[in-house]
Amino acid sequence: MEWESRYSERARGMKASEIRELLKLTQQPDIISFAGGLPSPDSFPTVDIAEVTTHVMLTAAEEALQYGTTDGYSRLREYCSYWSKKEGIDSSPEDVVITSGSQQTLDITSKILIDKNDMVIVEAPSYLGGLGAIRAYQASFTAVKMDDDGMMIDQLEETIKKMETPPKMVYTVPTFQNPAGVTMVEKRRKQLVDLAHDYDFVIIEDNPYGDLRYSGTPVKAIKAFDDEGRVIYTSTFSKIFSPGMRLAWVIGDEPFIRKFIIAKQSTDLCTNSFVQRILYEYCRRDLIENHINLIREMYKEKRDIMLKSLEEYFPEGCSWTKPDGGLFLWARVPEYIDTKNMMGEAIKERVAYVQGAAFFVNGSETNTMRLCFSYASNEKIQEGIKRLGRVIEREIKAHKA
Ligand SMILES: Cc1ncc(COP(=O)(O)O)c(C=O)c1O
Repeated sequence: MEWESRYSERARGMKASEIRELLKLTQQPDIISFAGGLPSPDSFPTVDIAEVTTHVMLTAAEEALQYGTTDGYSRLREYCSYWSKKEGIDSSPEDVVITSGSQQTLDITSKILIDKNDMVIVEAPSYLGGLGAIRAYQASFTAVKMDDDGMMIDQLEETIKKMETPPKMVYTVPTFQNPAGVTMVEKRRKQLVDLAHDYDFVIIEDNPYGDLRYSGTPVKAIKAFDDEGRVIYTSTFSKIFSPGMRLAWVIGDEPFIRKFIIAKQSTDLCTNSFVQRILYEYCRRDLIENHINLIREMYKEKRDIMLKSLEEYFPEGCSWTKPDGGLFLWARVPEYIDTKNMMGEAIKERVAYVQGAAFFVNGSETNTMRLCFSYASNEKIQEGIKRLGRVIEREIKAHKA
């Protein structure tokens, strides 16, 4: 069967991600992987989930096993609206839709907002899955640099001024960004909302990591500064509870949410009713807050071990971000080293990372890498960074020879 010519124009543009291929390789048991963005398997609250699941089956099986409404389980929507208040977001449960992961939010949002060649501005670097979801609807991209304070809003404005038409939307992961680990400061959040007003574009605020803060002062969501309804906010239970459950939420302006629900209906009818009830019961018992406190401690320790190991084992000429939360940090090696080419050597040492160039829409910054500190055990973080340091040292020596 010949398939290529049958694909829609849209599907022809979809390419296998080389990172997914890489992640398969890094799943070999003897490789210390800093590549995937996975929560620690030790973090899952299995006993509590088993108990809560039994409770749901004994008390609400008929509803839990039935189709649900497309917008989600009403009590969970209420809970998400309440949960988002600590980020300064003033929403009602009607502004919330429960989705099968933030990835679905990004897909459906792109589906309803993006026409072919619409301009979307993203961060450089940006979350690969976000780029993939937006690219699937044939958007064009422009990227704006970040520094330690997040997306550089003055550069964003310069970029927009040079455009014939303003962008349709700006996609940002403002807190403990994937991949760079940096956080957009509050001043820039306000500036971004003002710019969105001035140039009439929409902001997608993707916030999976906001609850995973280990140091520093909490910042309000970008959505907290939005009084026009132009910020679409999405967050997820993947990193604070379980990615396998596939539960997230989106908060938006009323007309947007109405359209979102229509689009979601033809995508999946409804989000899994069973797991929504389990999660709600888990939250209702206040278990989620205790759980987040536990994983914060766990990940803070891992972050600190990685930072200390980098100091100890990475050679001179390397630098890295020092994130206050999330799961990632971003490292730079000397400019003459291409981290994509170096990957073969790293795999020989049985350690893996993701080459930074993969996260840029224009593929630049070949001397960078993303390191995830949440997944490997504490001992393996130290050993993995030691091995990676050796690999970089060899590259430096080979260059100087
Ligand atoms: C920035 C960002 N957005 C969205 C997602 C997807 O999250 P979910 O599991 O809720 O689909 C991830 C997962 O790594 C992410 O890092």
